[in-house]
Amino acid sequence: METDILIPEIKEKETTNFFEKVQNDFLGLETNYQVASGEITRRIYLDSTASTLMMGIAHRTGEKFLQHYSNTHSLMHFSAKIATKTYAWVHEKILQFVQADPEHYTCFFTGSGTTSGMNRIARVFNHLQPKKDVVLVSIMEHHSNDLPHRKHGGHVIHIPVDTHESKMGCVDMDLLEHYLAEYEGRVNYVSVTGISNVTGIINPINEVAKLAHHYGAYIVVDAAQMAAHVPIVMSGNADPEMDVDALIFSGHKTYAPGSPGVVIVRKDLMEKIEPEEVGGGMVDRVFPERYYVTNDFPDREEAGTQNILGAITLGAAIHVLDQIGMENVLEEDTQLTHYCLEEMLKIPEVVIYGETCMKTCPRAGTISFNMKNLNHGLVAAILNDYFNIAVRNECFCAHPYVEKMLELTHHIQINEARAKQITDWHTEPWMGMVRVSFGLYNTKDDVDHFIYALKEIVRKKDEYEKYYIINDHGDYEHLTFQFSCKDYFNLSQLVLDELDS
Ligand SMILES: Cc1ncc(COP(=O)(O)O)c(C=O)c1O
Repeated sequence: METDILIPEIKEKETTNFFEKVQNDFLGLETNYQVASGEITRRIYLDSTASTLMMGIAHRTGEKFLQHYSNTHSLMHFSAKIATKTYAWVHEKILQFVQADPEHYTCFFTGSGTTSGMNRIARVFNHLQPKKDVVLVSIMEHHSNDLPHRKHGGHVIHIPVDTHESKMGCVDMDLLEHYLAEYEGRVNYVSVTGISNVTGIINPINEVAKLAHHYGAYIVVDAAQMAAHVPIVMSGNADPEMDVDALIFSGHKTYAPGSPGVVIVRKDLMEKIEPEEVGGGMVDRVFPERYYVTNDFPDREEAGTQNILGAITLGAAIHVLDQIGMENVLEEDTQLTHYCLEEMLKIPEVVIYGETCMKTCPRAGTISFNMKNLNHGLVAAILNDYFNIAVRNECFCAHPYVEKMLELTHHIQINEARAKQITDWHTEPWMGMVRVSFGLYNTKDDVDHFIYALKEIVRKKDEYEKYYIINDHGDYEHLTFQFSCKDYFNLSQLVLDELDS
């Protein structure tokens, strides 16, 4: 049953004004830091692929909920009723958001992000079909959609990326089919990302699902990057083979930092085995010698007290995204990403990874690049120290994909013997990229500032380089400019100030 007690009602739908209202309402859009020139400037946050900023409406909804905060396992008091009902509403909302039929799918929360959900699903699918010993994942995956399957899922085979022109960096669908056919009968499931956290390339997850199902395998989707960027259709596709069996995403990448990871999965699969996690809240009856697990979803998958506040904050963020319409979110995202790509391509010193034609190779929100003759760490440091632009660099927890894209783009071959010796990424400083990524709050002005910074780096490369050394951690450090975290956020002092006031 729906309750809108705590979720602000948003009546207007799909209007530019409404989009703009949300776009300007995030915490941290006016954060200022002093940069190396001595100026105090506004931070430009271009690191949303790592974590998005907090949506204002979601934050305020969470604050209002705190007036009623209570454990959802309590039953009779008013606050418990509000908490329980609202928490249940969030589950329903998420199922609706990813278009998963509530009759057949359940949604539950786990850990603080996708990693925890992926480990859980790997264990579940392994227990479901222990005799099927092969898991197919693409080489494009974040480690969170690779290592859990290696540890819990079975023998992992990596599907290579497409190297054909106009598809460079995408999952190779022909090779996926080739492996599915070669290992037919042994493949338990295929697990792919909806959007690469390195190149932003969007994978055709429903097409992958169709292929996997055709060969008798399940399909798991890592939607860590997908949930906030593109519409998702888990069930009700014209061809049921295109439906997705399990999908996982992170609340902290969906405009609700501090919220849990989310798993949406077919109920009939979860019913077949005892839940992986046991404890309070998921049992009907417990005796000293035995216990009876409840048949109710999602309770049976949510042992213990969950991150209730985080879930409710996430529910509000998802509700806002739904009101805007994910088609509209994607359209805005595509325009900004396309604009940024076009501007970057005009700078000859910039090398972009993956196919850059967004018609043949759609992308959302993420671009990784390098600047010729400049280390990725130095570029990221200059962008931060001089331009107050927050980006990520290195290998983004996707070492195999980053390595492959570097090899393909720069026509280098890392010989196998040497590759085996490389156990620490930092000892190979050339291995890495700079990543710029967007959220709802980013604008054309942000991109213009970023492009201006890249051009300045090209123009004054030698000057900037003189100011940096590589420290003991392998990071670029400015010789004269010092940044003190405590000047901006000092937890213990803030607490003492509050106590004194
Ligand atoms: C595609 C992808 N999958 C999984 C993860 C892991 O997510 P989390 O850190 O929320 O567990 C990330 C994080 O960057 C990601 O981008």
